[in-house]
Amino acid sequence: MNVIKSLKEMAKIAQEPSNSKNTIGFIPTMGALHNGHLALIRQARKENKRVIVSIFINPKQFTNESDLMKYPRTIEQDVELIQDFVDFIFIPSACEIYPQDFQLSISVGAHTHDLEGEFRPGHFEGMATVVLKLLNIIRPDRAYFGLKDYQQFIVVSQMVKDFNIDTKIIGVPTIREISGLAMSSRNTRLSDKEKEISTRIYGILQKAKSVILNGAQNPQDIEKFVASELVKLPKSKVEYVAVRSLQLAKMKVIESDMVILVAVYIGEVRLIDNIIVPSGIQGADH
Ligand code: PAJ
Repeated sequence: MNVIKSLKEMAKIAQEPSNSKNTIGFIPTMGALHNGHLALIRQARKENKRVIVSIFINPKQFTNESDLMKYPRTIEQDVELIQDFVDFIFIPSACEIYPQDFQLSISVGAHTHDLEGEFRPGHFEGMATVVLKLLNIIRPDRAYFGLKDYQQFIVVSQMVKDFNIDTKIIGVPTIREISGLAMSSRNTRLSDKEKEISTRIYGILQKAKSVILNGAQNPQDIEKFVASELVKLPKSKVEYVAVRSLQLAKMKVIESDMVILVAVYIGEVRLIDNIIVPSGIQGADH
């Protein structure tokens, strides 16, 4: 395992002559690594010859300065946690990723006008910009993204399609604590009490899933049900609840496989989660 800091060196190593057996699996992260990130690494390990993880807290995707300041920075622990499982850890500096004369950014499409995009304006532009840069530097065969950040997965998948990037984007199911709480670097900012409250979010999503599987037809009713359960949680502030198709289209009636997405503050900490629900309708796209 090698820690690489220079862009040039990373590009050189990643682009060493490859053949069909010498594949690269890439996992971009912002550090504060946990079991969710490890699941991505594990899957990449199975499917590729070489595995590269990047750790870069991307300032361009934070919509407010204090969230960026509070983002946990645990580089040494991160390296220790993953060093035995990966070939290279890429830790670029902000000034190499964004030199002073850096100007352009990715303009993202319709997938980002609402949900996270509504509450975090500029977030997806910043995220897509850094992911495009990293994909260009490393040119991996496969890149792994968590379905925990469902909209991010959709935006990145669209980006590689629109820009003919030769990397397969793989979505990895959400890893949860035993309590059901989706693992997230932000969870470390929850107090014990807030953490206990946060574990109930997934329970509410599961309840909604079973209501749908029992034949509910109207997405708005499901959204209302989930929102009404979330507001009952102490210290909660709900930002959005949405029932969407797997491509994030709005649905008038439940007619395809779907995803229920939520964003909710518990105290000061903003949490997102989602659950995928099969419609049970034959021919629904997966
Ligand atoms: P970060 O939040 O560090 O997440 C890195 C990757 O880990 C993302 O693909 C995210 O969806 C995945 N992940 C996080 N928690 C997970 C969980 N509980 N289960 C499964 N996967 C999980 O997402 C980012 O960083 C950044 O936006 C990035 C893509 C690195 C661009 O800066």
